Amino acid sequence: MSRLTGVAPSILSADFARLASQVEEVMAAGARLIHCDVMDGHFVPPITFGPMVVGALREALPPEAVLDVHLMIERPERHVADFARAGADNITIHVEATPHVHHAVNAVREAGATAGIALNPGTAVEALGIADADLVLCMTVNPGWGGQPFIAGSEERIRRLIERAAPGTPVEVDGGIDARTAGSCAAAGATTFVAGSAIFGAADPAEAYRAIAEAAGCGQPYPPEGQPAPN
Ligand code: DX5
Ligand code: ZN
Repeated sequence: MSRLTGVAPSILSADFARLASQVEEVMAAGARLIHCDVMDGHFVPPITFGPMVVGALREALPPEAVLDVHLMIERPERHVADFARAGADNITIHVEATPHVHHAVNAVREAGATAGIALNPGTAVEALGIADADLVLCMTVNPGWGGQPFIAGSEERIRRLIERAAPGTPVEVDGGIDARTAGSCAAAGATTFVAGSAIFGAADPAEAYRAIAEAAGCGQPYPPEGQPAPN
């Protein structure tokens, strides 16, 4: 288990007017990894937020919060230092967003964060050309919006990505994750489960978090209550 495993509530579906308190609610239920979806209006049509919101969350949240920043932006290598400076712990870039994936991964690490590589559902798994990412993100919907249905058959892509990634690399799934799909993705080998609408769209986000964590087989928080995440 590492700080990049577990259920990662996605703030995309949270109430932005009370972002910190919504995150604190799921952290009280055991969440440590907080997924932040950055969209630029180019790589995907919507625009969300940039480093300022990541920095505001960093300041508002306790140190055990691990900020997992998912960049759905073109040429992410031009922005990774700003997100790292703002307090991102992990920064994931898309292989489709730059011809310079290897350089972008290096830029993330030089900026002091761990580096994830994301693949869209239509991208061949062979596009995961370098095996030394700190995390591989298997999109289980097309990026851009919360609340879409899980793409059937994604479990097979998870298995194939695990074969390509370096042994032990956390594999994150993102899109349409709820208690049912978290279970089938966990069975395929996924270690990290992003859930937006299934958590923040629920009447009780803390209870929804616990149900997904239970289904994914990662009910225990990491690191243990009250302890900071190791670097
Ligand atoms: C979609 C984002 C997701 C989104 C998932 O492009 O990358 O992180 O928040 O939302 P749900 O869990 O509602 O599918
Ligand atoms: Zn995401």
